[in-house]
Amino acid sequence: MRYPPLYTTVALSLFTLSTSSIVYTNDGAIEGKLHQYNDIEYLSYRGIPYAEPPIGDLRFMPPLPKKSWTGTLDATKQKAVCPQAESSYYKTDQMNEDCLFLNIYVPLPHNEELLPVSLFAHGGEFNALSGYDDLIYGPQLLLEQNIIVVTFNYRLGALGFISLNIPEASGNAGLKDAILALKWVNKNIQFFGGDAEKITLGGNSAGAALTHYLMLSESTSGLFQKAFLNSGSALGYRFLARHPVENAIALAKEIGIESNNKTQILLQLKEADAFTIVEAQSTLGKGNKRNGFRPFAPFVPSIEIESTNAVLTDEPINIIKSGIPQNVPTLTGFNAKEGMKMLPAILRNVSLIEELNGDFKLCVPSDLEYPSDSEELNNLAQSIKEFYFNGANISKSNIGEFVNMITDTQFYHSTDYWIKLHKAHKESNTLYYYKFDYDGSLNWFKLTNQIDLPGPAHADELGYMFVTRMTAPLLQNATDTDNRVMQNFLSLWTNFIKYGTPTSPVTNYTWPDSGEDRTYLLLNDQPHARAGPPLPSRTKFWEDVYEDYYEYIRDSGKLEPQIVP
Ligand SMILES: *[C@@H]1O[C@H](CO)[C@@H](O)[C@H](O)[C@H]1NC(C)=O
Ligand SMILES: *[C@@H]1O[C@H](CO)[C@@H](O)[C@H](O)[C@H]1NC(C)=O
Ligand SMILES: *[C@@H]1O[C@H](CO)[C@@H](O)[C@H](O)[C@H]1NC(C)=O
Ligand SMILES: *[C@@H]1O[C@H](CO)[C@@H](O)[C@H](O)[C@H]1NC(C)=O
Ligand SMILES: *[C@@H]1O[C@H](CO)[C@@H](O)[C@H](O)[C@H]1NC(C)=O
Repeated sequence: MRYPPLYTTVALSLFTLSTSSIVYTNDGAIEGKLHQYNDIEYLSYRGIPYAEPPIGDLRFMPPLPKKSWTGTLDATKQKAVCPQAESSYYKTDQMNEDCLFLNIYVPLPHNEELLPVSLFAHGGEFNALSGYDDLIYGPQLLLEQNIIVVTFNYRLGALGFISLNIPEASGNAGLKDAILALKWVNKNIQFFGGDAEKITLGGNSAGAALTHYLMLSESTSGLFQKAFLNSGSALGYRFLARHPVENAIALAKEIGIESNNKTQILLQLKEADAFTIVEAQSTLGKGNKRNGFRPFAPFVPSIEIESTNAVLTDEPINIIKSGIPQNVPTLTGFNAKEGMKMLPAILRNVSLIEELNGDFKLCVPSDLEYPSDSEELNNLAQSIKEFYFNGANISKSNIGEFVNMITDTQFYHSTDYWIKLHKAHKESNTLYYYKFDYDGSLNWFKLTNQIDLPGPAHADELGYMFVTRMTAPLLQNATDTDNRVMQNFLSLWTNFIKYGTPTSPVTNYTWPDSGEDRTYLLLNDQPHARAGPPLPSRTKFWEDVYEDYYEYIRDSGKLEPQIVP
């Protein structure tokens, strides 16, 4: 019998609600809610505003800290998600531009000792999803490991990332939201029993890239002590907008703003309905032939002009080469078959494959800006086609090769490459590198998208980390191997969060610092460390491609911006 009799639960929750579920912070009182999960109890505080609503004149601006309040803030219910295209995940009536909330989950009981804190940034290509626990980010498995979990919303798409390269709209508002959430946690987590000196910033996909951007910024010094990045980095070409102003102007045109005066454009964009902006942004993306091969969103982080609020003012690769400002212990890696991320779109509409076969240059990552009619681009397209497909067209019969190509271009190479550049520094901090390669009954993305190819897709690890809506009913039927993989996964991540090292004295294998040879942990049901890089011939191929490109730029080769419209 796992659960106590009903009356005990009721009595206990009444007692707790009337005493300890109200937390008094310096900004005001917050009321949370008691929950039970398997053998633990925990308190949730959902929908705590950490910023003033980013509406009206504050749209596109860096967020302002939330002013203190009187009375007790009700944090017993989920609040709005940030505006995004309507999908099976969220409907428009769940969205509001007033969306800058965070959620805190505290395991019980806990004594005087302050607990380590994990601040987790959600994924969703910088234009979808939220930090809430309703779809993906149910924190119970992490709470069982006795840490505090904090999740948060940040502004998405154009509302979060538009840049006109002027002080009033300099870009990266969504990253600035994350920084303010971090500051809020530093200031207030002690009132929830959390240790403000043991904060680990982490995330998956866009949340991993967000984490990485904050590691590359001088502006986050002292705000977090460790970082984990599941499948994402600032070098991932789809996570950086190289021509944000052109995209902003195209968006303005899409909603009927014809001016070329940036101040005018900004004024009118601030007057537009938030959902008109969201809709225009979806329309822009659809018309793009490189859809799937150009930046997500297309409104994502960008390089800013210098200002007191700036997060990123140089190319990520330059920052990594010269030594990252937040040189903290890091845990990062990728999933063996990340590229399955592209399959739902492709399988829904086979004419997308035809389009790629008709013009293979569309498969070249959009940060390689060779002119469209150049010999360099044609040769590169041909060599990618040879390397992955032996020169054949993409088809159902070689879809596994297509998955590998996407895995490499969108996730693997950029992760492997930044690790290489970072670990070339003697003073680089410890970095734990993994390749997740387990295919069980809880692989979140494949379940959600009904994909039955072997290997773990992008975001599949989430089923071993969180109680997701998709996997919650499957947990009771998980196999022993699934459970072993899950417990191992959780102990690696939470040991890292607690102690800075993922393995513990009871772990029967070691996961060493990646070092210059990029040693990594093969993370499956028989985890063990291996000499890196994880995919040597694919690493070599892409390192050569980018070396050639940098040489082309050094030789003053002509470039053609790959902008979205
Ligand atoms: C742009 O518009 C602003 C606001 O209407 C105006 O003050 C400014 O003079 C304009 N700039 C130019 C170059 O026309
Ligand atoms: C499929 O993709 C093609 C090419 O991008 C597009 O023209 C067509 O409208 C799409 N069809 C559907 C049903 O979405
Ligand atoms: C590859 O696909 C393109 C576009 O559909 C087609 O024109 C071409 O003939 C195909 N090549 C082969 C070898 O099948
Ligand atoms: C779990 O397994 C039981 C027994 O085999 C079965 O009846 C039940 O439908 C399964 N539940 C799910 C969610 O698959
Ligand atoms: C570690 O322990 C697990 C579970 O007991 C076992 O399956 C695995 O083979 C062991 N691994 C090593 C490297 O000893």
